[in-house]
Amino acid sequence: MCKVSFFNKEMDIPIIQGGMGVGISLGNLAGSVAREGAMGVISGVDIGYREEGFLKDPLAKSKAALKKEIEKAKAIARGRGLIGVNVMTAAKDYEELVRASSEYGADAVICGAGLPLNLPELVGKETLIAPIVSSKRALALILKTWKKRYDRLPDFVVVEGPKAGGHLGFKREEIETVKLEDIVADVFELLKELKTERGKKIYSFAAGGIRTLEDRLRMKDLGADGVQVGTPFIATEECDAHINFKQAIVDSKDSDLEIILSPVGFWARAIKNDFLKGIDYSKVQKRRCIDCLKTCDPRKTPYCISKALCESAKGRLNVVFSGENIDSIDEITTVKDVIEKLMGER
Ligand SMILES: Cc1cc2nc3c(=O)[nH]c(=O)nc-3n(C[C@H](O)[C@H](O)[C@H](O)COP(=O)(O)O)c2cc1C
Repeated sequence: MCKVSFFNKEMDIPIIQGGMGVGISLGNLAGSVAREGAMGVISGVDIGYREEGFLKDPLAKSKAALKKEIEKAKAIARGRGLIGVNVMTAAKDYEELVRASSEYGADAVICGAGLPLNLPELVGKETLIAPIVSSKRALALILKTWKKRYDRLPDFVVVEGPKAGGHLGFKREEIETVKLEDIVADVFELLKELKTERGKKIYSFAAGGIRTLEDRLRMKDLGADGVQVGTPFIATEECDAHINFKQAIVDSKDSDLEIILSPVGFWARAIKNDFLKGIDYSKVQKRRCIDCLKTCDPRKTPYCISKALCESAKGRLNVVFSGENIDSIDEITTVKDVIEKLMGER
């Protein structure tokens, strides 16, 4: 009933664990989610951050780490569920990391933080592809471009609303006014038209603040086939994040969250802390730059987002991204618990 059947692969549970960088969703979390029959997603962002020599050759180190994490996830999943890789379109290494993900056997590649207009040309035929969008307009543009250039459609779409964690695809004022429900319904209309026109079913997954069975069913009633969930998976034993990062999510409430303007050029939701309080937006921080983002100008940015996220991954909390609706996340549980809560089995 809930099964999601792509042209070559299936998942029993209509849940995607959202890719979370840096170092939050790696092979252990993704593999554990897949083992439950859902889709686990490895974040490709700066994935080589723990490798020696990363600052000298970030791409080579990230490719090596990506291969290891995909293999690890597949071994943990033991053939169940699917393993995806999330690559930010805004990353300088976006094309290389997408190509590598497909080559190393990822079942799916999911791309947000910008419009992945050339995604189809970067992957093999067996790799499922999906954009993350925050409006019907953005999806329509991707569909039009992919059809014209590649005669290819996405296999699924992630529809991310303003309550999500990490970078958001909205203008500042839209974060308070736009509702995920409205975007999901709009996107569903577009996908329905497409099904009639071209005969292909494109699955949609709603994301941002989804925590319970009721949340999931509300999205289903609006036409979504499933949900993508991020933050609750951080507070699990299996999550790859440092314990300090997990504990920060457990200890925080919605009132502890704030919206920041990230050097990536997007608004983002993060936990208020001393690091964020100490940023002087009138100053440019001079530091070594690995030139990781297409959209960041190091001559103008007050801090390096890549460094801040890598530090947090190591347990020295700088920027800690989180979705909204976290009041109910008050202990570290397991992947199985998170999935059962969303599926209504407990
Ligand atoms: C710590 C953290 C890091 C994230 N990193 C990424 C990322 O690198 N790329 C991306 O597309 N989305 C990223 N996201 C968004 C998630 O994949 C997911 O879509 C979103 O968090 C869903 O909302 P929820 O956390 O409220 O469930 C991140 C979210 C969090 C909480």
